[in-house]
Amino acid sequence: MHVDFYERVWMWGAGATIALFLGATAFAAYSQGRLPPSHIETIDPQAVWTDQRFADRGVVANSDGSYTVTMIALMFAFQPNEIRIPAGSPVTFRMSSSDVVHGFQIVGTNGNTMVIPGYVSQFTMSFDDPGEYLIVCNEYCGLGHHSMYGKLIVERGAQ
Ligand code: CUA
Repeated sequence: MHVDFYERVWMWGAGATIALFLGATAFAAYSQGRLPPSHIETIDPQAVWTDQRFADRGVVANSDGSYTVTMIALMFAFQPNEIRIPAGSPVTFRMSSSDVVHGFQIVGTNGNTMVIPGYVSQFTMSFDDPGEYLIVCNEYCGLGHHSMYGKLIVERGAQ
């Protein structure tokens, strides 16, 4: 079969680009450990407000210097709505939804997760820059979706 020279160049070019992208993805995933959060923990979505794991909402300082933030997402707010944490320490966010799917995005950072009824969403990150960060819901959850936001205040840490 005759394939025109330029046709062949484009075919190899397209193939090489795909191989490059797949290779970059595989490299990032397996060599750099850049995998999506894989925390799997379920919860009865009807009982989020009475579940012991969500009884103490807010910020808890752990003995190893890290922090745990526990929140419930609901139409149309985060509970609690304002969080204060020190800069530089690892913070584990744990949250669940008591109604529909919500989003949790800390604007201007990598902090971003879906909050799905029936599951506990969890991720850990730290904040180097003190300041006020806006938290928004980035999954359409109803008529008040645009008014669902909170505030994260990163205070100058001890270190
Ligand atoms: Cu909650 Cu949009």
